[in-house]
Amino acid sequence: MQSDQTKWNLKYKENPAPSEPLQLLTQYIPKPPKNAKALDLACGMGRNSRFMRDCGFYVESVDISDFAIASLQNESNIKALCVDLDCFSIPPNHYDVICNSYFLERRLFPSIAKGLKKGGILIFETFAKSEKQSQNAFASDSAHLLHKNELLRAFLDLEILFYEETLIKRTKDSNSSLALVARLVAKAT
Ligand SMILES: C[S@@+](CC[C@H](N)C(=O)[O-])C[C@H]1O[C@@H](n2cnc3c(N)ncnc32)[C@H](O)[C@@H]1O
Repeated sequence: MQSDQTKWNLKYKENPAPSEPLQLLTQYIPKPPKNAKALDLACGMGRNSRFMRDCGFYVESVDISDFAIASLQNESNIKALCVDLDCFSIPPNHYDVICNSYFLERRLFPSIAKGLKKGGILIFETFAKSEKQSQNAFASDSAHLLHKNELLRAFLDLEILFYEETLIKRTKDSNSSLALVARLVAKAT
């Protein structure tokens, strides 16, 4: 959506994005097989893309923010594409790793699972809905929050290697608060 692009371009221009990769990714990234390929969905400024590339993967990175995508254009072994994931198809049986970090498009769940090659690993982490309003990352738009066990259920056709719903410290506009997140690591069998 055009409004998402405008919103995220502005965010990235005004605030530095985190450069550390997702901890879950650093813990569970597999040893890259020959011609290893990874997909970074809604890659943002590319913290996870760069990490996967440095681990030996050729990375396809997609995001709606053309500002974020431009920042990855000259990176070796990263193919960065500006796409709207509301209408994007993931090719089946194609990736050794798929990373979905702090983005939620439920329509993509089945094609994320199918997009993994046999033995491929899914790393998925994003905000979840808490019973405590203060622990919800978005007060107004709970469509962007996972429900209890929703992520786990969505990928039960894969082998679940790790799942948790836990609180993280979140800093926004120099205020810190706790937010509930769901984390999943799963393997295509
Ligand atoms: C919270 S950021 C996460 C960025 C990155 N995955 C990370 O963890 O650093 C959410 C990202 O989703 C992207 N995004 C939002 N809506 C999108 C859409 N419809 N299609 C593609 N990307 C989208 C934004 O541009 C933004 O980069």
